[in-house]
Order: sequence, then C-alpha cells, then structure tokens
Amino acid sequence: MEISLALSNMTANNRKISVEKLSLSFASLTVIEQFSLTVREGEFLAIVGPSGCGKSTLLRIMSGLVKPTDGRVTIDNVEVDGPNPRHNLVFQDHALYPWRTVSQNIAIGLEIQKRSAVEIRDKVGVLLSLVGLESFAGYYPHQLSGGMRQRAALARVLAVDPDVLFLDEPFGALDAMTRLVLQDELVRIHSGKTVVLVTHDVEEALFLADRVIIMSALPGRIREIIPVPEKRPRDRGSTTLAQLKRRVLGILGLEAVVGNTRVPDVNFAI
Ligand SMILES: Nc1ncnc2c1ncn2[C@@H]1O[C@H](COP(=O)(O)OP(=O)(O)OP(=O)(O)O)[C@@H](O)[C@H]1O
Ligand SMILES: [Mg+2]
Repeated sequence: MEISLALSNMTANNRKISVEKLSLSFASLTVIEQFSLTVREGEFLAIVGPSGCGKSTLLRIMSGLVKPTDGRVTIDNVEVDGPNPRHNLVFQDHALYPWRTVSQNIAIGLEIQKRSAVEIRDKVGVLLSLVGLESFAGYYPHQLSGGMRQRAALARVLAVDPDVLFLDEPFGALDAMTRLVLQDELVRIHSGKTVVLVTHDVEEALFLADRVIIMSALPGRIREIIPVPEKRPRDRGSTTLAQLKRRVLGILGLEAVVGNTRVPDVNFAI
C-alpha cells in the first residue's frame, strides 16, 4: 500500500527514473521479480537489503549495463538500453587507470567528449578542489590512499556532469572517518542530481537519502519504503534519525540499541 501511495503522489513532471515490473533471472535463479519503483527528479534514494538480494544487479540494470529478462527502466521517459554517461555508475572498486595521474583520470570523460584543452583544465581544477585532491593532481593511483582513490573516481564520474548518479557501495571499503567525510561531500555534490545509492550502512542511508528502500532477500522485492523527513545537511545525532535507524534495523531483523542497553556487537551495518 505504501508503495502505490508513493507512486501516486508523483506526477509525470517530476518523475526522473521509472522502473517498471522488472524481472531478471540467471538460469534458474530469479534475482529480481516484478520490481517497480519511481525516483523523482533530484531525489536521493538509498537501497538497503540483505547481501545477495539483487541490489547491484538492480543498479546495473538501471544504468544500462545489464538487460532485464522482463520489464523496463526509463529515464526522462526514454527506455534505458545501454550505458550512458549522463547516468553514471560508480562501483565500490573503482578501476582508475594506473598509468594516468589523478588529473588525467578525471579528464578521461571530457577527452572522449572532445572538450577543448582549456575547458578540460578548468573543469578538472574545479573537481580536484571539490573532492579535496588539489595537492595530488599529479599523483598516480598507486600513490594514493584508498579514500583518495575513491574521491578521484567520484570526481571522474562527476566530470561529465551526469544528471543521474548510481552508486554501488561507493564508500564500502573505506575506514569510518573517511566515510563520514565523503558522505558530507556527497551531500554537497548531490544538489540537483538524482542519486540512487546502494549501501550496507543504515546510518549512511538515513544521513543521505530522501527515501530508504528496504529490499527483501531473493528474489529482490521492495519490503518497505522509509521516507526521511529531515532537511540536509543532517545532524547525525538527531532523534529522528535514531528512531528511523531502529525501525530500519528492526525490519532487517537486526537489533538496535534500546535505551542504554547495548545489544549484539554490530556496527549497524548489514
Ligand atoms: N552474472 C551473474 N550470473 C549468475 N548469477 C549472478 C550474476 N550476478 C549476480 N548473480 C546472483 O544474483 C544474486 C544477487 O546478486 P547481487 O550482486 O545483485 O546482490 P547484492 O544485493 O548486490 O549483494 P551484496 O550486498 O552482497 O553486494 C546473487 O545470488 C548472485 O549470485
Ligand atoms: Mg552488491
């Protein structure tokens, strides 16, 4: 009921992505079944769910890398039928080109678009400062930390100014501190873009997203949609976020902190 309500509140005008009765099977394994979802223009959507429930597969279909067995995805009312730099996907494990410096990696998309050298230089400069890598422009990927590589990969995707960003656990491999910094950066970067983020980190989802989709185990279906009413930038310690975290963890079957009683040793990630 909640799902149809969410869809009916959305007018055709602000609908950016429409996932319509999507199904995907690998041989006898049904990974996604009759999955429908609408994402608003400029919305930040987070998807959480058990490991192996089909989140990455869903993102790959939405970004045109994988064709569904049934159903379709439209972006701006146009059916997705292959990868498109306007709708970029960032994976957890970014393959920066090892023989290119940070600047040269960020410039790749712009070179493909045959932008002028001046334009490329200017744009790369802006992006380097956006992700805090100004002092490392000439470094090669192997000379960077994991978090810096992740930031460089994010800048590379942002260089072509996509209007949709698909992020598959982009900060999954990072330490807690770097994650927090990059989440703050993502809040700034998000402005105007439609973002779909897959994450195992419930706090990350609630800190960033307008709505959190909770998926069920295979075959992946929407179990619940949790709207996050707080304006960004959000206070990580807010009572609303704490209550929502408890609710999401409850739905996922994980226990939360109740009062001062700390229950199992989990860091609220799934
Ligand atoms: N190319 C493939 N061939 C066969 N099965 C696949 C393929 N890709 C994914 N699967 C299967 O689809 C299911 C969902 O995989 P997917 O990577 O989408 O899960 P996920 O929700 O992203 O999991 P995680 O949270 O662990 O990243 C898994 O059972 C996986 O084995
Ligand atoms: Mg995955």
